[in-house]
Amino acid sequence: MCGIVGYIGHRQAYDVLMKGLHRLEYRGYDSAGIALMKEDGKLNVYKSKGRVADLEAKVVGCDVGGSIGIAHTRWATHGEPCDRNAHPQVSQSGRIALVHNGTIENYAVLKAALAQRGYAFASDTDTEVLVQLVDYIQTVNGCSLMDAVKEALAQVEGAYAIAVVERGNPDTLIVARKSSPLVIGVGVGEIFIASDATPMVGYTDRVIYLKDNEVAEITRPSNLKIQSLESGKTSAPDIQTLRMSVEQLEKGGYETFMLKEIFEQPHTLRDCIRGRIADDGQRVVLSGVLENRDRFLQARRMIIVACGTSWHAGLIGKRIIQELCCLPVEVEYASEFRYGHPQITDKDIVVALSQSGETADTLAAIQLAKSKGAFVYGICNVVGASIPRNTDSGTYIHVGPEIGVASTKAFTGQVAVLALLALCVGQERGTVGRDTICCITRAMRQMPEIIQAVLGLDPVIRELSRTFTYARNFLYLGRGYNYPTALEGALKLKEISYIHAEGYPAAEMKHGPIALIDHEMPVVVIAPDDSLHDKVVNNIRQVKSRGGLVIALVTQGDASIREMADYCLEMPKVPECLTPIVASVPLQLLAYHIARIKGKDVDRPRNLAKSVTVE
Ligand code: G6P
Repeated sequence: MCGIVGYIGHRQAYDVLMKGLHRLEYRGYDSAGIALMKEDGKLNVYKSKGRVADLEAKVVGCDVGGSIGIAHTRWATHGEPCDRNAHPQVSQSGRIALVHNGTIENYAVLKAALAQRGYAFASDTDTEVLVQLVDYIQTVNGCSLMDAVKEALAQVEGAYAIAVVERGNPDTLIVARKSSPLVIGVGVGEIFIASDATPMVGYTDRVIYLKDNEVAEITRPSNLKIQSLESGKTSAPDIQTLRMSVEQLEKGGYETFMLKEIFEQPHTLRDCIRGRIADDGQRVVLSGVLENRDRFLQARRMIIVACGTSWHAGLIGKRIIQELCCLPVEVEYASEFRYGHPQITDKDIVVALSQSGETADTLAAIQLAKSKGAFVYGICNVVGASIPRNTDSGTYIHVGPEIGVASTKAFTGQVAVLALLALCVGQERGTVGRDTICCITRAMRQMPEIIQAVLGLDPVIRELSRTFTYARNFLYLGRGYNYPTALEGALKLKEISYIHAEGYPAAEMKHGPIALIDHEMPVVVIAPDDSLHDKVVNNIRQVKSRGGLVIALVTQGDASIREMADYCLEMPKVPECLTPIVASVPLQLLAYHIARIKGKDVDRPRNLAKSVTVE
C-alpha cells in the first residue's frame, strides 16, 4: 500500500528513487510518480497509472536530472487510479510537491475552505488538499517550508507519512509521520527516506525510525532536525543498524518472490526457532515472556488481534494456547475489535500478530487495548516496525523480508512462534508436562527437514494444478487445528488466482456448502492422522457420495482416504498442533501453480497490498 521514497545527496536522485520504487512494489499499488529538482531549483514531475515500469517508459527522453527528489507508488483510496490522482501532488502554484501515505479524514472541510480562497483542484485526492494547504500557509505567512508543513499538519486529522519539496529550494526535504511508517537512512553526505528500509539496502545500514507525530527537516549535506509536532521539542536522532542484505531482497534464481519464499521455509523455520529451545528440548526460552512472567501468570485471558493471513495464524494459536496453557483465548479481526466495545481489563494479554508490523487496524487495536490496561504482546516479522515499537513486549518471527503479497513463510513463522509462546507460557504456568514439551520441540527442530520433504511434492502439485484451472469455485475443508489451514488455503487461492474459494469446518459443510457440490467442484480436504481423522473421513465420504472431486492432504500411509479421494498428497506425521505448518505448504504450492498456469502475476495480485496502512 502506498510507498514513499525520497533522496537528497550527491547522486542522481532519479536512479535512487526508481530503484527504491521497484523495491517497494511488493507493497501493492496502481500508479507511480516522481518529482525531481535540479540545482537551479526547477521542479520536474512525472506520473503514470500502472506499474513503475510504465513510469520509466514515460520519462524516456525527459529531463530527469537533479540530486533531490521524492517518489511514490499509490494504492487508490480517494479517486480512481489515473495519472491525475497519482502522487506527487503539486500545489496550484506549482511550488510545492508532496507524496503521502495514509488518509486525511477532514479533507472535505479543508478543501471547501481552500476553494473559497480561490484554490482549484485537479485531482480527487485528499493529498492534493494537504499540498494546497501547505502552499496557502506559506503564501500567507511567508514562512519556511518546515513551518508551513508543521502548521498544515496541525490542521489535519487522519493518518499520514509525507515527504515534501519546494521549487527553488533544492537543499531541503521535509518528512513527517502519524500512524503511517517512515524510515530515514543516513549515508555519508546523503539522506534517504522511505516507507520501509528496503530502498536503503545497499546504500546505508544506518537508519532512524521516525516516531509518530514527528517531523524532520533534512538539509544538505546530511543535516537532520527532528521535532515533535505536538510539543515542538527537538530530539537527537536515534540511529539503529539495519540487518538486511541485497540478496534477501532478490529472487535468487526463482521465477517469482512467492516461489522463493515458499521454498525458503525450511530455512526460515530454522531461523524462527533458533536459540528459543533449550539444548535438552525441555524448555522454551522466549525472553518477551520470561521478562514479564508475572503478567503471564496472572493472566485470565488472551485476545489475539490480527488481519488477513495473520488472523488465520491467530486461530491456530488459539487452539495451541488453550491446549497447553489452559487459558481462554479469543481471536478477533483487529478491524472489528477496535469498534466492538471490547471488555478488556489489566488481566488480559492482547497479542498483536502482524507480518508487516504496520497494519493500521492492528495498530489501532493495540492503542485501545493499552488504554484499557491490557498487557500487549507483539508477534511481528519486520524489525523496528510500528507494532513492535508500540507493544509492551514481544517476539520477532525472523523469517526475513517477505516480498510476495500473498503471505507464505510469514504464516508458517507465525504459527511456529505461537507454538513457542504456548509452550513457554504453559511451562511457566505449569500447565504443560515435560513429555509434551519435548515431543513438540523435537518435531519443531525437525521441521526444516520435514518441510523440505513436503516441498518434494512440488512437481506432483504442479501437474495436478493443470487439472483445476477450469474451476470457478473451490471448497477447502478441515477440522480442529486444520480448519484455519483450510481458511488460509482458500485465501491463498483467491488472492493470486482470482478463483473463488471458501474455507469451511468440514462438519459444517452439511449445513450449506454441500449444496454446491457436484462433479465440477474441487474440494480440498486437510485430513492428517490426528484426533479428528475419522470424523474427517466421514466428511470426505459425504462429498464423494455427491460426486465431488476430492484432493486430500493426508499423513503418509493413510490407506483409508487414499481409497476414496481422487487425488492424495502425503505429508510426514507431526504432533497435531504442528500439522497446520506442514499442511499449509502443499496448499501454497497448489494456489501458486494454478495462478501461474492461468498467467497471473502472483507477486503483485490485482487490488491487494502487502502492507495495509489505511483503515
Ligand atoms: C494484507 C496482506 C496479507 C496480510 C494482511 C495482514 O491484506 O495482503 O497478506 O495477511 O494484510 O498484514 P500483517 O502485515 O498485519 O500480517
